[in-house]
Amino acid sequence: MLGDSVKPTRSRLERILKIAALGCIAIGLTIQFIPVKEIGNNPPARFALDAPPEVAAILREACFDCHSNETRWPIYSRIAPASWLMARDIHRGRTHFNFSEWADVDEDERNDDLENCWEQVESGEMPPWFYVFPMHPRAKLSQGDKLLLKSYFLRGAKGAEPAKPPRVTQAK
Ligand code: HEC
Repeated sequence: MLGDSVKPTRSRLERILKIAALGCIAIGLTIQFIPVKEIGNNPPARFALDAPPEVAAILREACFDCHSNETRWPIYSRIAPASWLMARDIHRGRTHFNFSEWADVDEDERNDDLENCWEQVESGEMPPWFYVFPMHPRAKLSQGDKLLLKSYFLRGAKGAEPAKPPRVTQAK
């Protein structure tokens, strides 16, 4: 009968799948013990943005997880290999510029950063699509959000109003 001839192949396949699944679980558990220094680490520096509250709210939602020391570290950020990818993005993001460390850079550099930010937002590069979907739908920028950001990002650009002096807060 057909069933008889299929049976041995299927059970061998089942055995292989079972071993493969156990192998995956073992690897999955083992990699949890590989230490990643950056995970959960928010350095103490804080800078109070001199942005209007509605702009600050957008930046917090869409940019701060990767470009500040106020990263929200969700549970899945502790689980390898997702944690490795996040640590890498956050490390690279903070290296490019870090809103929390703006107390240590001068006005010119801040304005350069701001103009870069506008380029990234205007072109749709930032926030990265893989961040927005599926984990952070609220980071998606509407046209209105972009206009608000534009007015803030380009405030120091040539021909714009002179920027107000920054307010600096102490690290908590
Ligand atoms: C998921 C993490 C993440 C989020 C959220 C994010 N960024 Fe980035 N950003 C990065 C990474 C990673 C890089 C470095 C990209 C590279 O090296 O190619 C970067 C680079 C940049 C740069 C420098 C680009 C350059 O080439 O000089 C700017 C400016 C920037 N981001 C602005 C923003 C702004 C503004 C937001 C919010 C609207 C934002 N980013 C949200 C991860 C992020």
